[in-house]
Amino acid sequence: MNSYVQVNHLCKSFGQGDRKLQVLKNINFTIEEGEFVCLIGGSGCGKSTILRLISGLDEEYEGEIFVDGKTVCGTSRERGVIFQKHRLFPWLTVAENIGYSLQHTGKKEKYEIVQSYIDLVGLSGFERSYPKQLSGGMAQRANIARALVNNPKLLLLDEPFSALDAFTKIALQKEMYRIKEGKKSTMLMVTHDIEEAVYLADKIIMLSPKFPTGEKIIRVDLPRPRDRNSKEFVELKKYFLIIFSVIR
Ligand SMILES: Nc1ncnc2c1ncn2[C@@H]1O[C@H](COP(=O)(O)OP(=O)(O)OP(=O)(O)O)[C@@H](O)[C@H]1O
Ligand SMILES: [Mg+2]
Repeated sequence: MNSYVQVNHLCKSFGQGDRKLQVLKNINFTIEEGEFVCLIGGSGCGKSTILRLISGLDEEYEGEIFVDGKTVCGTSRERGVIFQKHRLFPWLTVAENIGYSLQHTGKKEKYEIVQSYIDLVGLSGFERSYPKQLSGGMAQRANIARALVNNPKLLLLDEPFSALDAFTKIALQKEMYRIKEGKKSTMLMVTHDIEEAVYLADKIIMLSPKFPTGEKIIRVDLPRPRDRNSKEFVELKKYFLIIFSVIR
């Protein structure tokens, strides 16, 4: 059976001639349906580039990228993207932002869908607030709801929690996993945070030109819910930190 996402021999360069910069060199990985995969690696190694290519925002590359058996061609509502900074429209309320892409849905149905996502991300009571009235964590919740409202089969997240304080971050990490389990969606998240990756991922892809094939893939088989203080968790985190210190 084919994997839900298949990346084969992916290469990507920016610029031309003397100014050509090869960012990705022979990257290979797969993501199974329902899997939570984290992508980690040093700054500038091409993590966001991979996300943009899988989302279809950038279509120039060498190699193969298949999602659900098909070559990625342009963006699609089946692939939601969440960036580090929320991209809410400042002139719309939380509810209007979340429902923005449901243009062709009837008024009552739209209200119900939007409300269910507001509840899901814990923003009840803030439906009529504007983005500037929200804290960073609340704005990112609204951003997540706005991406989920289209029921994407694949959610691509680019450091979605990196600008948040430690407590908000931990709360949102827990919620992200709960949402993934409930919606049965497949997630690929870029993060700088090794603890976040070990807490959330079924599989971690480490990117570095120092690996023979450009990437190293490690499964995380710790039982869930994961205890950040357990011996196994701490040991795995230490193991990743050691590899990370060598490859970056
Ligand atoms: N549109 C572009 N034009 C030219 N170079 C680019 C472009 N986008 C990215 N790059 C270069 O490609 C490399 C990888 O960028 P990318 O944003 O994918 O890195 P990253 O791993 O996400 O880094 P960070 O952890 O800092 O977010 C960088 O050297 C960057 O300068
Ligand atoms: Mg990036």
